[in-house]
Amino acid sequence: MAQQEDVFKKIVSHAKEYGFVFQSSEIYDGLAAVYDYGQNGVELKNNIKRYWWDAMTLLHENIVGIDSAIFMHPTIWKASGHVDAFNDPLIDNRDSKKRYRADVLIEEEIAKIDDKIEKEVAKARKRFGESFDEALFRQTNPRVAENVEKREKLHERFAKAMNDNNLEELRQIIIDCEIACPVSGTRNWTEVRQFNLMFRTEMGSTADGAMTVYLRPETAQGIFVNYLNVQKTGRMRLPFGIAQIGKAFRNEIVARQFIFRMREFEQMEMQFFVRPGQELQWFEYWKQWRLSWHKALGLGDTKYRFHDHDKLAHYANAATDIEFEMPFGFKEVEGIHSRTNFDLSQHEKFSGKNIKYFDPELNESYTPYVIETSIGVDRMFLSVLCSSYEEQKLEGGDTRVVLHLPAALAPVKCAVMPLVKKDGLPEKAREIVDDLKFDFATRYDEKDSIGKRYRRQDAIGTPYCITVDHQTLEDGTVTLRERDSMEQTRVNVADLHKLIHDRVSLTSLLRKLA
Ligand code: GAP
Repeated sequence: MAQQEDVFKKIVSHAKEYGFVFQSSEIYDGLAAVYDYGQNGVELKNNIKRYWWDAMTLLHENIVGIDSAIFMHPTIWKASGHVDAFNDPLIDNRDSKKRYRADVLIEEEIAKIDDKIEKEVAKARKRFGESFDEALFRQTNPRVAENVEKREKLHERFAKAMNDNNLEELRQIIIDCEIACPVSGTRNWTEVRQFNLMFRTEMGSTADGAMTVYLRPETAQGIFVNYLNVQKTGRMRLPFGIAQIGKAFRNEIVARQFIFRMREFEQMEMQFFVRPGQELQWFEYWKQWRLSWHKALGLGDTKYRFHDHDKLAHYANAATDIEFEMPFGFKEVEGIHSRTNFDLSQHEKFSGKNIKYFDPELNESYTPYVIETSIGVDRMFLSVLCSSYEEQKLEGGDTRVVLHLPAALAPVKCAVMPLVKKDGLPEKAREIVDDLKFDFATRYDEKDSIGKRYRRQDAIGTPYCITVDHQTLEDGTVTLRERDSMEQTRVNVADLHKLIHDRVSLTSLLRKLA
């Protein structure tokens, strides 16, 4: 675990050193849980967004996109339940004055028991070697059984307290489990209180006339209140979906783990409108489809798992997370929710407008049910970065840091380098850049030794380096170096475009999903 934490620290500093992510307002000592994306970060982020957008809107005839405003009528948040129920339970330690999410403290306690179980299993696996029967061991080992029972009891009690919104019980669990503050080491806890996560501001110029508005905590509501506009103007028939990418804001109590939990972040959300009664079948469809979208990136199939929710959000009748194995454990990257007709019904009630869908096949009007897929761009970015980072030992004792980014997501697709800065090689290299730059993010680099230049590109995940040497001037060939294998092949300049395109284009990634 400590080793993984070290790797994570290195990834965070790598992200800064190579222009991926900077702390916001750094020269003013930063602003907690707010980050800026640098020159390479913004390209990677844009490529992730493009992959999502194209997968959703190009590969599904019945999905279209919108871009709704961040500010919305404040009654929307009353109708959606966010004003009353978008809360986290917080608890303070009186000695350290540190604030925690009560639910997270308990979840961490559950994770500790899980760890104990897994350690016991790992020890036994090592001891028994090939003959190890894991299932039997889990069933029969008394220490494992004891911990499994302890975990189940705690989990059940916790899920009930969360579902009942029982804040006293949450505090009692913390006391009973003897959970101590990691900073002061004491168990001197305050009561648990609810804390609303929405940021507010005022719209309007005078104090009297100003209206309290919220920075949206999810992009979804912009889709709900526009669904009928899109349906009518786009002549859409159920089932159909509306996709949106945009900023969301949450005043997170505990913001940790770099860009994993931010106060300003970006979401890619799609609401899929279906006939009532068909929602659970579409929920299954979208679970599998979204997982395929992730897996197509080739970051490793074993790095994903589903996590079904114990506590359903106020709007859902089924919900699951797609979790990704980060250096700090499996964590939610995407949520898939069956939101019933809750939001649309609420908006109908609060606005007083009829926003029912007329189904021409059934010749009746009804409020559609909704399946939502909601993924955080920043979390996706973090999962791509973490799983791509490698410190590689090379033959001859050398090392390199390489980002094995999926080629279609890489900020730079190819770098063109003259072997030396003379003899017409820079001019030839520039000529190649001028040809490739229309289709690929291409860099020109002539500084330092060729080895150092390769390392710089490896560190930002550039799939291809093209080296122009004296032979190029004679026969029109260059060396094409591939990032992961470091293999160099001699190819014709005329073939470069196709070779690079086949590997780095988004199309080849999307084809895996079609
Ligand atoms: N519309 C549903 C919704 O917002 P959510 O599970 O609260 O559901 C969806 O959020 C996704 O947004 C999460 O899976 C996560 O990737 C991202 N997300 C949520 N809160 C975040 C935060 N504070 N920082 C970064 N990403 C966040």
